[in-house]
Amino acid sequence: MRIILSDSKEEAVLKVAERVVEKIQSRPASVIGLATGRTMEPLYAAWAKLAQDQKLDQSKCFFFMLDEYIGIGPEHPSSFTTYIKERLLIPNQLREDQFAFPPASALELEAAARAYEQNIKEAQGIDLQLLGIGTNGHIGFNEPGSEVTSRTRRVQLTRETILANGQDFQGTMPTEALSMGIGTILECKELLMLVTGSSKAPVIKYLLNHHDDPNCPATFLKRHPNFTLVLDPAAASKINLKI
Ligand code: GLP
Repeated sequence: MRIILSDSKEEAVLKVAERVVEKIQSRPASVIGLATGRTMEPLYAAWAKLAQDQKLDQSKCFFFMLDEYIGIGPEHPSSFTTYIKERLLIPNQLREDQFAFPPASALELEAAARAYEQNIKEAQGIDLQLLGIGTNGHIGFNEPGSEVTSRTRRVQLTRETILANGQDFQGTMPTEALSMGIGTILECKELLMLVTGSSKAPVIKYLLNHHDDPNCPATFLKRHPNFTLVLDPAAASKINLKI
C-alpha cells in the first residue's frame, strides 16, 4: 500500500483527479470503476475541470459503478446512478453507453449480478478503481463480515451505514444494495482510495494497524500490489507516520 499525505483536502482531491486524467491520457480506452459518496463529490468536479482544461478525449473510456441501492430505482434522485449522471456523465458530455450500472432493479438479482461480473471480465477488467471508505471500514457496500472472495451480490446495509447515508434520503433510506464484492475489487489493476475529513480518522488508523480483518473490509485491500491511499490532514490526524 502506498500512502499519500496531502497538505489540504483540495490537494488530496486534485491528486486523485490528476491520476484519473493521467490514466485516461496514457490509455484512452481505460476501464474506470466509480465510487460515490460525499467524499467523491469534489473529485468529480476536479476531474471535469481538468478534462475540460486539457481537452481530454474520454470518448473511448468505459465506466463500471461499484454499487447501487436496491428498492429505489435508477431514476431516484438519491440513487448512485443519478449521482454519477449528474456529476460525471453530464459535465463531461459522456454517452450512456459508456456506463454499466449495477442491475439493482433486476427481478433475477443473482443472475443479473453474475452478468455484471461477466461484463467486467469481457471489458478485460477494471484498470483503475476509485474507492472511498465508510466509517465502519466498508468499501463499496462490503460491510464488516464480508468475505475476501465475495463477488457482486445483494448485501444488507448496517445500522451505521443507514445512519450515515440516511441524510441523502428525504423518505425511507434503503436497507439493501447490490455491490461489487471484495474479490471483484481485488481483481482491479489499480486501486485509488480518497479519504478526507476527521470522521474518517479512526477508521484510517484502524486500517493502517490491521490486516485481513473482516471487521474492517478495507484491510483486505492491503493485499493488492497497486493500492494507493490518498489522505487529507484531517483523515490522517490519528496516524503517526515516522519518515
Ligand atoms: C457510500 C458508498 C461507498 C463510499 C462510502 C463513504 O455509501 N457505498 O462507495 O465510499 O459509503 O461515503 P462518504 O464519502 O459519503 O463518507
